[in-house]
Amino acid sequence: MKEQLEAIQVEALEKIAGTDEVKALQEIRVAYLGKKGSLTGVLKGMGKLSKEERPVIGEIANKVRDTITAALDEKSEKLEQEALEKQLEAEAIDITLPGKPVNQGGPHLLTSIVEEIEDLFIGMGYEVREGPEVETDYFNFEALNLPKNHPARDMQDTFYITNELLMRTHTSPVQARTMQEYKGEKPFKMICPGKVYRRDNDDATHSHQFTQIEGLYVDKNVRMSDLKGTLDVFAKKMFGEDREIRLRPSFFPFTEPSVEMDISCKVCHGEGCSVCKGTGWIEILGGGMVHPRVLEMAGYNPKEYSGFAFGMGPERIAMLKYGVNDIRAFYTNDKRFLKQYHQA
Ligand code: PHE
Repeated sequence: MKEQLEAIQVEALEKIAGTDEVKALQEIRVAYLGKKGSLTGVLKGMGKLSKEERPVIGEIANKVRDTITAALDEKSEKLEQEALEKQLEAEAIDITLPGKPVNQGGPHLLTSIVEEIEDLFIGMGYEVREGPEVETDYFNFEALNLPKNHPARDMQDTFYITNELLMRTHTSPVQARTMQEYKGEKPFKMICPGKVYRRDNDDATHSHQFTQIEGLYVDKNVRMSDLKGTLDVFAKKMFGEDREIRLRPSFFPFTEPSVEMDISCKVCHGEGCSVCKGTGWIEILGGGMVHPRVLEMAGYNPKEYSGFAFGMGPERIAMLKYGVNDIRAFYTNDKRFLKQYHQA
C-alpha cells in the first residue's frame, strides 16, 4: 500500500508538472483527490489494514495528499499569475503615444459678436429683448410709419406667409412691440438681436437672411446728442479708442431726423485709402430720433416723450472688425473659417 501511495504521488506530481492549463489542473485534482479519485480509493481500503499498519499508512497517505494539494495550489497560482501578466502586457497602455485630439466646438463668430454687442449695451443699462421672426404686416411696417403702398416698403421686400404675415425684414418691429408693452408709460432702454429676412439674391454683401441688432431708448428729453454719445461709446469699444464717428443725414420712415453712422477707416484714419474707397469713412449703421407718429401709435405722448433708435448688422460689424470679405462665410459653415474665431 505504501508503494501504491508513493506511485500515486509520483504520477500526480509528474502530471502537475507537465501541464500548463488551469483546466487540466482541475481535472488532476478531481482524478486524485476527488470522491472517486485514486488517492481516495486507496484510503478507502485502509479498513482492511491491521491496527499497527493503519497509523503508519495513514500518515503516509496524509503526506501524499498534502504534497499533491500543495503542488496543485502552487501550480495553479503560478498559472494564474502568468495569465494575469499576459493580460496586463496585452492591455498595456503606451503612454508615449501621441493623444487623439478631441474635437471641441466653440461659438460661431456671429454669436460672439452679438454677445459682445449685448454685453456692451447691458453695461449701459439696456435690457435684451426678442421678437418673432414671423411678424405681422402691422408691426413690421404699419406701426413703424410704413403704411400699405408706402414706396419705402420696396427697400425691404420679403417673404410673405399670407397677406398679413411675413418674415420680418428688420428687428424694428420689436421697437413697436416693446413700446406697446410698456403702455406708453415707462421710460426704457432695450436692444434686440435677431434674424431678419429680405428678398435679395445672395452675393458677397447680400444674404436673404441675416442678423440685426436694434437699439431703442425712450424717455423724457432724449436728444440727438444722446444718440451720438451712445454710438460713439459703442464704436470706440467695438473697434478701438482711436476711431471717430460721423453722422450723415439719411431717411427711415420710422425716425426723424434719420442718420447713417460712419466710423473712420482703421487703415488710413480718415485720409482715404482703398479699404474705405478713398472716403476715409466706413458706413456702420442707421438710426435716428423715433418718429413722433411711431411713438404715438405705440401709446407714448410725443410731446412728453422722445427717443432714439438705431439698427445694425452684426455680420457687417464682424466683417469690418475681422476683415471677412464675403457675408456667405457666416452661413456656409466651413470649419476652417469658423475655427479661426474660436477662443481657446
Ligand atoms: N430698421 C432699419 C433697417 O433695417 C435700421 C434702423 C433701425 C434705422 C432703427 C433707424 C432706426 O434698415
